[in-house]
Amino acid sequence: MSNMLDTNKLTLSEHVFNQFKSLMFKESGVTLSDEKQVMVKARLAKRLRQLQLSSFEQYLKLVKSPDNRQEIQHLIDALTTNETSFFREAQHFEFLDHQLTSFSVTVPLRIWSAACSTGEEAYSLAMTVAENRCHPDWQILASDINTQVLASAGLGMYDMSRASSIPRNYLIKYCLKGVRSQAGQLLLSEQLKQHIRFILLNLDGELPEIGQFHFIFLRNVLIYFNETKRKQIIDKIVAKLRPGGYLFIGHSESLRGITDLLRPVQATIYQKC
Ligand SMILES: C[S@@+](CC[C@H](N)C(=O)[O-])C[C@H]1O[C@@H](n2cnc3c(N)ncnc32)[C@H](O)[C@@H]1O
Repeated sequence: MSNMLDTNKLTLSEHVFNQFKSLMFKESGVTLSDEKQVMVKARLAKRLRQLQLSSFEQYLKLVKSPDNRQEIQHLIDALTTNETSFFREAQHFEFLDHQLTSFSVTVPLRIWSAACSTGEEAYSLAMTVAENRCHPDWQILASDINTQVLASAGLGMYDMSRASSIPRNYLIKYCLKGVRSQAGQLLLSEQLKQHIRFILLNLDGELPEIGQFHFIFLRNVLIYFNETKRKQIIDKIVAKLRPGGYLFIGHSESLRGITDLLRPVQATIYQKC
């Protein structure tokens, strides 16, 4: 007889759900709305199964125990939403390409993908800069709070089905088709990878010494924070943007009333005054 845990039979009470919510808020600044209860249950059930725990109460106790800090990272990895794609919101990459042509820099061109998820955004930026050729010396910093997506981003290997949004000439030039054990996979070229550094970074914490950037992509992450957190994060991000540099946010996000240090240039694109 199988002794596998039937997670469908588990109950996530409102009280315990609220405690997971508070923990997520404390550790990442992310606000999980009440509608996320089903999602939280499904995602944490996987972790319960791995740990062979039989209730969410047991898991909560484990995650809260002070000598088990690494379980907090598992919680964050499980509860962040990482949807992304290559050249998502393509007009941002067209705008960047256009700006690069006239953008004059005396130092290496620096771009930050500040919630990079599995890396598609960073590689899309890299392909755009490499193809533009106006800046031979360039670096991309790509960061996220989720260790699992970062590990996969660093590999630069994706299911071929994700390639459809990559322009064909970029595919030919910057991507390889996996063979043998990597058949059906798309591999980003080493030539691009050497310009990108992936790091673990919590936007809700004090930012490390990462220098300043000419372009910052902070897309589709502000939606997970409340207004106070959003403002705090934008203040920190603006401090990392060079004067004249550009900030890009997601299509459903807005900075209205959040800062007056940026001027809107186009929908979801801002420039530091
Ligand atoms: C929906 S994805 C956006 C990916 C990409 N920027 C895009 O637009 O396609 C949101 C990402 O934000 C990350 N994230 C959430 N809270 C964060 C925090 N406090 N610090 C850094 N990254 C965070 C998540 O792990 C997730 O990978």
